[in-house]
Amino acid sequence: MPVEFDQQKLELALKAGREDENLPFSLHIFDSLASTNQTLWNLLAQGEKPWSVVIARQQTAGRGQWGRQWISPTGGLYLSVAIAPKLEATASYQLTLASAWGIASQLRQCGVDVGIKWPNDLVLNGRKLGGILTETKINNGYIIQAVIGVGINWTNPVPETGINLERWQASRPTKPISCLEILTSVVLQGLQSGMECLYQEGISILLSRYLELLSNMGDKVYIDNLVGTVVGVTSVGKLRVSLETYDTTEIKTPELYIEPGTITLGYSKSSVSL
Ligand code: BTN
Repeated sequence: MPVEFDQQKLELALKAGREDENLPFSLHIFDSLASTNQTLWNLLAQGEKPWSVVIARQQTAGRGQWGRQWISPTGGLYLSVAIAPKLEATASYQLTLASAWGIASQLRQCGVDVGIKWPNDLVLNGRKLGGILTETKINNGYIIQAVIGVGINWTNPVPETGINLERWQASRPTKPISCLEILTSVVLQGLQSGMECLYQEGISILLSRYLELLSNMGDKVYIDNLVGTVVGVTSVGKLRVSLETYDTTEIKTPELYIEPGTITLGYSKSSVSL
């Protein structure tokens, strides 16, 4: 395993296929950090601009969704990207939907069969390949800055419900992602294309693309002794669950809208849980 992250290799990969030689990203690469999200917030406070990127070979206090820890030994991809989206604060989840769709679709274009597990997980063979943590700074009801943090399992050890790309590729005839720097360039291009889709095409188109890659469609969910079926996601990131209820005359299918973080969709179909 290479001991250093090769910035030149990353820049070459990012430049490949681009007409403009000037990269939109300003890269900051570290050996070890507490959290790439935290370092990027610190850099933004010192005047760093949108599309600044922080990458670390390992993190000692990596942050996950819902206040969890993100275990971050060397071998994984840990990066954060700054954006200035000018979105209403209530729409902040759109940044996560755009990031998840952009990264998943870019990996799929490389031949990696990634799907999305609501709201922010990247999945491969039904296991967690990576996750996204979006943090925002709000002023007067608008997002003025956002940091999108991405963790992807490359060669690092993973728990039972996880998978890393190296192991997945070992079982395949072709290995589309040859190193961590190439994976990093795919993820950065995915984030850029996700944001372009959101800004230029709008949330309806982005959402329809996100739903095409959503692995939970049709899953059964159990809520307060009722069984529901996942039928989609709203434009602000809530899970749409259709409930079947019966009264004496007809079948009704009211919908519930579930906030991210209030239920967990498990990694095995049999363990969908509240
Ligand atoms: C999740 O819980 O699924 C989201 C995990 C996001 C982890 C990444 S690793 C790079 C960035 N820096 C952090 O501290 N967290 C995110």
